[in-house]
Amino acid sequence: MDRGSPEASAPGIPIGALATDGRTVTLFTPPVPLPPDKALGFREFLRALRTNALTIWPRDAYRQDSSVRHLLGRNTVLLNTPDAIHHVLVDNHANYRRSRASVRLLRPITGQGLLLSHGESWKLQRRTIAPSLAPRVMPILARHIALATQDAIDALAAETDRSVNLLAALRSLALDVAGRSMFSLEMRQHGPSMRGLLREFAERYAQPYLFDMLLPPSIPTFRDLGRRRFQAKWMRLIEDILRQRLAEPEVETPRDLFDLLRAARDPETGAGFSPAELRDQVATMILAGHETSAVALFWALTLLAQVPDEQDKVAREADLVDLSPDRVSAAMPHLPRTRAVVNEALRLYPPAFTLVREAIGPDRIGDIVLRRNDVVMIAPWVLHRHEALWDRPNSFDPSRFMPNAPPPPRFAYLPFGAGPRICVGAQFALTEAVVMLASICKRFHVSLIDDRPVLPVAIITTQPDHMPQFRLRTR
Ligand code: HEM
Repeated sequence: MDRGSPEASAPGIPIGALATDGRTVTLFTPPVPLPPDKALGFREFLRALRTNALTIWPRDAYRQDSSVRHLLGRNTVLLNTPDAIHHVLVDNHANYRRSRASVRLLRPITGQGLLLSHGESWKLQRRTIAPSLAPRVMPILARHIALATQDAIDALAAETDRSVNLLAALRSLALDVAGRSMFSLEMRQHGPSMRGLLREFAERYAQPYLFDMLLPPSIPTFRDLGRRRFQAKWMRLIEDILRQRLAEPEVETPRDLFDLLRAARDPETGAGFSPAELRDQVATMILAGHETSAVALFWALTLLAQVPDEQDKVAREADLVDLSPDRVSAAMPHLPRTRAVVNEALRLYPPAFTLVREAIGPDRIGDIVLRRNDVVMIAPWVLHRHEALWDRPNSFDPSRFMPNAPPPPRFAYLPFGAGPRICVGAQFALTEAVVMLASICKRFHVSLIDDRPVLPVAIITTQPDHMPQFRLRTR
């Protein structure tokens, strides 16, 4: 049976739960692809990786502390306990690098940028870039987010009471946010070619095949030839946009991420980025930031479309604040419910469903002995639905993330990873998701047109298995 197919899923079901004040409330449990009953065989595993990586973990994985599989001549270990995860992502992080498949698949888009860098080069890039995405920069970026969101909402207003492909609209919006916050440029001119290339990449080059995992990145596979041709086209497009941006007059106060990155200096050496390095960082930010944000918002809206009461709470909260570009930063602290919905959507549908690392040298994690090149997986998808870590792990309950709720267990909630390689854009991503969700719910009532279950499918990010149609009604 195709485990990614709708037939394999349980329908979304409401279940009773006890609220903190003792009342019984009904929680919505969204549908998911059924996990296999036992560990998949080698061929099935490879196929699942290509078609829906969420189905590589058997039912037991959601209860166990860890599991080990022998695949392609090395061990692959899934870790679910805080100490083990802390060990890999924090204590001994220098002993782990990105997997060869991740490097092979993502290099064409990110070049030598931060995401795939390693060792000293990573350290230098990270400390140079981090201040450009720090909380104090958020007002500059929030302004761009609000501007792009206003335009998108005006366009959506023309589609009210009709069938709308919301995911497509959100992808355009996230790309517009990326473009404006990066370059202060509207993406009308470049958006279609950028989206076209990113689609080509997702459809043709983003799936891992056997040799992609087997061979070290220095030995090209057949698909790598296409990936190289793709990289040349993609980097040409980024260079065209940079040229247009560089033609703008320089200003003293930074307008956008590009100004911040261009001015960024390594605090230790004082060195900045060369033009090629700057291009690769820009490409990295676009890849790392835009699809993840689009799907995060998509899942938040899909959940709210199925739980109208919760949607109304977000709308009421948004109604009380001014989300216009100059006021939006001040509104952020007054949107706790919206933020809780975003956090809960990131728990149930983490866009980065798994963090994969390869051991550089031997290591020991509790009883597990790792050899060089063994693979470690820390899977937010599994962790966020783990039965020992969460109460009603599969149900949608934003109250878990309200300011008065106890914090989630340590290292059980990792939508942005953890440790030194935690997402450098996390603040930006959260600001973006909260502003967009509040703005959309303030203006529209969002519902799904039919009741076909919307199932998550993971290839590079956690996406829906089909493009569901939505209806927007003006509030
Ligand atoms: C909802 C949106 C986002 C999610 C869920 C997300 C998730 C993640 C995760 C899980 C990692 C760590 C990967 C690992 O440890 O293997 C990561 C890294 C990264 N993210 Fe994000 N991200 C999001 C948005 C963004 C945005 C908006 C940007 C840029 C503006 C960005 C830039 C990066 C970069 C450059 C890295 C690599 C950091 C490093 O290796 O030092 N991300 N992201």
